[in-house]
Amino acid sequence: MDPKIFAHRGASKRAPENTMHAFKLAYFLGAQGIETDVQLTKDDIPVLIHDEQVTRTTNRTGYVKDFTFNQLKQLDAGSWFAQEYRGTTIVSLDEFLQWIHDKPLYLNIELKNNKINYKNLEAIVYERIDYYQLVNRTIFSTFNPNSVKRLREFNDIETAFLTLQKNKNLVSYALELGANAIHIKYRLLHQTLVKKAHKENMPIRIFTVNKFAHVKKCFSFGCDAIFTDVPDKILKYRQRLYKNERKIKQKP
Ligand code: G3P
Ligand code: MG
Repeated sequence: MDPKIFAHRGASKRAPENTMHAFKLAYFLGAQGIETDVQLTKDDIPVLIHDEQVTRTTNRTGYVKDFTFNQLKQLDAGSWFAQEYRGTTIVSLDEFLQWIHDKPLYLNIELKNNKINYKNLEAIVYERIDYYQLVNRTIFSTFNPNSVKRLREFNDIETAFLTLQKNKNLVSYALELGANAIHIKYRLLHQTLVKKAHKENMPIRIFTVNKFAHVKKCFSFGCDAIFTDVPDKILKYRQRLYKNERKIKQKP
């Protein structure tokens, strides 16, 4: 099976990351899934934003956790990217789920609790995903090993341990935590790791893959999915790989 293509923070090279513009564009461009990051507001509303602080992607400064949801909604999350996106707002998890639930898309909800250990983040997010009956097409992921353990409480969910660090016992470590998938940075990708993961029936997914050579390696190693900022480009690369494959097969 070919690796699934997840749009990383939506189509984040073409529109402001983690906004409805980026999500809608990813769907339009043909991504099979969407990856997004969740943090909690002061009043415990799950919102989609990558950084703990609003500084990089809005017109204000400060921590997400210090704004109420209504305060956060006043921020401009588009003009940092391009003027045409001025007035774009930060999206709540609920708005996103409302939009995605009737679309044939997979979800990867990354819990951003490796820097701030948001209380009850796992339960708050799970409850919303369950409400929209999306548990069976959602992957919960986190860099926080304790959060992976806490996610064990919820039956029948797919939990991925995210990592940037080299660890020769990664597969057994992730299994011990209770993860059933591994998400790794591209530079950690090795054929032996993919084989080890697959031996344990663990999908292995790679971030962030934007270049042809990287896509080629992920495909040839049999990775289960890639996260990309440029789903349109990756779909073209996939076609190019198919064509090359056909040519090789047709050779006498
Ligand atoms: O979920 C894959 C990837 O998004 C993890 O890193 O920092 O882009 O959220 P980051
Ligand atoms: Mg992420």
